[in-house]
Amino acid sequence: MTERFYTEETTFLGIPGPVEVHPRVMQAMNKHLYGHRTDHFREIISECGELFKPTIQTAQEVYFLAGSGSLGLHAGISNLVDRSDTVLNLSSGKFGERVIEITKRFTDRQVSLTKEYGQAIKPEDVKVALENNPETTLVTMTHNETSTSVLNPLPEISRIVHDHGALLMADCITSAGGDEVRMDEWGIDFFVSGSQKCYGVPAGLAFVSFSEAAAQKMEGVSRDQDYYTDLLMFREKYSKNHDTPFTPAVSLIYGLRESLRIIEEEGMENRIARHRKMGKLYRSAMRALGVDLLAEEGYYSNTVTASLFPDGVDPKRFMQACLDLGLLAAGGQGSLKNRIWRLGHMNVVGPREVLGFVSVVEYALRKAGHEFEPGTGVGAVLKGL
Ligand SMILES: Cc1ncc(COP(=O)(O)O)c(C=O)c1O
Repeated sequence: MTERFYTEETTFLGIPGPVEVHPRVMQAMNKHLYGHRTDHFREIISECGELFKPTIQTAQEVYFLAGSGSLGLHAGISNLVDRSDTVLNLSSGKFGERVIEITKRFTDRQVSLTKEYGQAIKPEDVKVALENNPETTLVTMTHNETSTSVLNPLPEISRIVHDHGALLMADCITSAGGDEVRMDEWGIDFFVSGSQKCYGVPAGLAFVSFSEAAAQKMEGVSRDQDYYTDLLMFREKYSKNHDTPFTPAVSLIYGLRESLRIIEEEGMENRIARHRKMGKLYRSAMRALGVDLLAEEGYYSNTVTASLFPDGVDPKRFMQACLDLGLLAAGGQGSLKNRIWRLGHMNVVGPREVLGFVSVVEYALRKAGHEFEPGTGVGAVLKGL
């Protein structure tokens, strides 16, 4: 193709968020606005709260902050960390690095356990890091590291953190709502996610929830740390009357309610199975095409896949060829720039979309200099369906 037929309006969002949004969610947001200090809105917020809980298997309340996912990360650190606290940040990619940056703003006693891009954080490494830093009060981790497409072993790490007597904060921004997250059973003390990933709502909402142990810690943290993200204030307002301390992102909340209804209709277990299957199908196509994955085997993300450009492939030509066929893929961040491309398989992505992704990837790889029998990747997907 020489001319670009697909425009920004019709190009499919294959990036790992913001993702394609279900038409019902778009329609729900296009609703007449009403006051948020009304019983009408309080009912909507409390329906969101109740529908959200089963998506992460928690009995705790969930708060919907007006901001992107990073606001939730900021809220976790600002509420749980005093200047005197030692925080161990586990990092295996760009988003783990972001939490390190946030943590440094709140304590000078920040320590990190970092892994090479593509590697997962291993529970035994966490054990050693905690032994070396026995005064640690909080451990943070990224469940699904979107920059490398690694799914870190959260339940196993959580056990070690709790044996040590520390709290665990988990960035579940690209796992929750698509992959399995069991907040209470796994012992996540502070949960963070965001609207524009597996929950399938436009960007602008951060989701947070926390355990009783985390709430107790918050009580003791100096309250002059932060105002806008004071979660005890959120909790107090919500428990009194399903209110929020500040004006909530009303239209996004309408969209969230619709998306959570869609998730309930699909069933969370079915949704998790679908995301896992789509990840598996896409990876099988990459293997068939002779494309290596960045993530270490056994720790593959179910919601995003990072693939290494084969030798001789021109990354710019590849990305442009994807766009020419109407697919917006993501590149690599930092040192992974021009080494990988990433496609998200979240929210509305089903077999039709994966077949489409793989067809486009085949086209783009051939345009960019990789040789193989056309249809090889698509064939692998079809065989796995
Ligand atoms: C794992 C993870 N953490 C944090 C973020 C940052 O979220 P936001 O861009 O919504 O602030 C992202 C965004 O892609 C992410 O994937």
